[in-house]
Amino acid sequence: MDPSPTLSAMEITSGRLRLRKAHDADRDGLIELQTDPQVRLYLGGPRPRSVVEQYLEAIGTTSITHNPGTFVIADKTTDRLFGTLVLDRRSADLPGHVTEEGGELELTYLLRREAWGAGLAFEAATAALRAAADELPDQPVLVVTQTANERSLKLAARLGFQCMSTFEAHGAEQTLAASNLHSFKA
Ligand SMILES: CC(C)(COP(=O)(O)OP(=O)(O)OC[C@H]1O[C@@H](n2cnc3c(N)ncnc32)[C@H](O)[C@@H]1OP(=O)(O)O)[C@@H](O)C(=O)NCCC(=O)NCCS
Repeated sequence: MDPSPTLSAMEITSGRLRLRKAHDADRDGLIELQTDPQVRLYLGGPRPRSVVEQYLEAIGTTSITHNPGTFVIADKTTDRLFGTLVLDRRSADLPGHVTEEGGELELTYLLRREAWGAGLAFEAATAALRAAADELPDQPVLVVTQTANERSLKLAARLGFQCMSTFEAHGAEQTLAASNLHSFKA
């Protein structure tokens, strides 16, 4: 396993957003993210509500963001959960890499349906990647998304990620896009 770190920040703020660790009050928003058919369209489909509730009950809502680089995206003013963002390492066991050894930084993002179309994922990703660029040496950073997921691909392109290759996984074509972490330095 690649021991290289991701960013250590517990909280990151931007103009409209606070990327923070989860609170118990985020429970309903987190359940919605896992059960909304539109949000889950390219992520294997919605999960049954009862399964998600049992899972959160078992691990505790706040455990969701326990790992470094894992955040809730919240409204800076109201603290309402808009989504989640993760910057962690893509396991070498998975397909889709730009280095021989794998374990590159990988960005994933998920917004509640009501929060789409306002530039919030772009703002959250920019803030997280900037914080990571200030802390970590320059290195590749990946976005892997279903090729059919136009919104996600558009966001990756807007962030400056370049499409590198495509591959099949989970019964669908995936696009691997990459950038250099230090291109996000402020
Ligand atoms: C992928 C996802 C996060 C993209 O959300 P998004 O809101 O489209 O992304 P952005 O933050 O880049 O916002 C772009 C849109 O906001 C608009 N916008 C409004 N104000 C803006 C601002 N201040 N800055 C930038 N864009 C702004 C843009 O014009 C664009 O609008 P469009 O949808 O009409 O093209 C969202 O669709 C989602 O959660 N999907 C389900 C989960 C998923 O598939 N995740 C991918 C796994 S990696």
